[in-house]
Amino acid sequence: MSTGRHTITVAHGDGIGPEIMAATLRVLAAADAPLDLEPVTIGLSAYEAGHPTGIPPEAWATIRRNPVFLKAPITTPQGGGYRSLNVTIRTSLGLYANVRPTTSFAPFVHSMHPGMDLVIVRENEEDLYAGIEFRPTAEMAKSVKLISRPGSERIIRYAFEYARAHGRRTVACMTKDNIMKHTDGLFHRVFDEVAADYPDLRAEHHIVDIGAARLAAQPERFDVIVTLNLYGDILSDIAGQIAGSVGVSGSANIGPDHAMFEAVHGSAPDIAGRGVANPSGLLNAAVQMLVHLGEAAVAERIANAWLTTLESGLHTADLHREGLSEREVTTDEFTDAIIARLGSLPERLRPARFETRRITVPAPTSRPVVTERAGVDVYLRWDEDERDPARLAERVAAAVAPTALELTLITNRGVAVHPSSAPGAALTDHWRCRFRPAPDAGEPPLGTLLEVPVVLAGAGLEVVGSEVLQRVDGADGFSSGAGG
Ligand code: NAI
Repeated sequence: MSTGRHTITVAHGDGIGPEIMAATLRVLAAADAPLDLEPVTIGLSAYEAGHPTGIPPEAWATIRRNPVFLKAPITTPQGGGYRSLNVTIRTSLGLYANVRPTTSFAPFVHSMHPGMDLVIVRENEEDLYAGIEFRPTAEMAKSVKLISRPGSERIIRYAFEYARAHGRRTVACMTKDNIMKHTDGLFHRVFDEVAADYPDLRAEHHIVDIGAARLAAQPERFDVIVTLNLYGDILSDIAGQIAGSVGVSGSANIGPDHAMFEAVHGSAPDIAGRGVANPSGLLNAAVQMLVHLGEAAVAERIANAWLTTLESGLHTADLHREGLSEREVTTDEFTDAIIARLGSLPERLRPARFETRRITVPAPTSRPVVTERAGVDVYLRWDEDERDPARLAERVAAAVAPTALELTLITNRGVAVHPSSAPGAALTDHWRCRFRPAPDAGEPPLGTLLEVPVVLAGAGLEVVGSEVLQRVDGADGFSSGAGG
């Protein structure tokens, strides 16, 4: 169901960007896609003009004004001082979902997995990609993994809504919650809660290591996969590689107010300006964009003309194979062939079919949660007394004796070394000491907890960080410190 005309931002990009964007826009125009285009210049020339994100202010104004952005690949300049244009756009526009359909187009595009047809919905804003990293001691580096309940709920609901809108049947969640019980565990729990609202869809969970192995060996068994940022990054590349279709895949970055569509590949400077690039990745991104805009009928016409062109054996150089292809064609010839086939349906490949329903994700539900302070972990740099945990425990316990808290645990690299100790644990200069109130002392005041690092520093110990422990809805909101 069309909702009238749509004004979109268009960036022609660098390298092969202008060639594949021209091809894509030609197909969109021939298919009468109801689009008005507002071009912006971003990327290499903007970096070179001194804009550290590759986006000049006037381009930002246009990108922010229009809800939809079709972007050709850009070249990231070598050397320091430049910030990633993609990460800047993603975080500034709140594009929380990265949606990457990965389909095998065998036998017309070589693939070991002809039946593969899946979509990876990757959380795009949280996880280790928040980039909160430290070097607390000479020997230790640490990164903080952030997973929020609203962030998890939004991406998981998006995945279920996407599955419904695209006639898909199964949503598989992948986490490592057997190890990361609080971060990945939260994501898995929210997945189970949200799945209950979609009884028409099958929901399943895989531990990500075996899930990735299954994806590599039997991608045909997957339909929609929803996962955390880092796993999604890795799984998308595995899926793209085994489909044999990295060069033809498009991807969508979706947020509440904005969406950005682009090819999966980069600007291919090695073949730029020769008129031989395959425009399929950007064209398929444009098809995703049309579905997002509620223009499913136009999207279907273009996708089916493209599939028919693949079947015809007219292939750009990257797809050309002796015995499979009829003829190697240029970017322009391939584009003409697609336009000539608008209105055709493929005979061997499955015709594209999209629902006209636009995906809307309700605001995350909020429910009352009871939190209660339960202690404090204090991190120390300590490299004395041959790193003997018993000696550290003595010093720490003596220092905190005047407070109302007790030393209950020391870990090194997450492994408990006091009061009981793992035999043979390799010890670094970075230690975590846990302080809890006496069993029936009630909730400790925040001031008492914050006093502990001060007291330890006063006793000559080098404090490098601390974290207040919480109980959430009656359960410990922190790992036990036993490792594993
Ligand atoms: P690339 O994807 O541009 O190229 C890898 C190989 O695939 C090259 O041999 C290239 O010729 C070929 N290739 C890629 N797209 C093709 C197409 N449409 N038709 C035919 N052949 C194609 O990756 P590379 O070389 O690592 O990166 C080049 C530049 O692109 C870098 O500056 C990189 O930072 C940037 N890049 C930009 C992205 C974006 O804007 N979203 C994403 C990935 C890379």
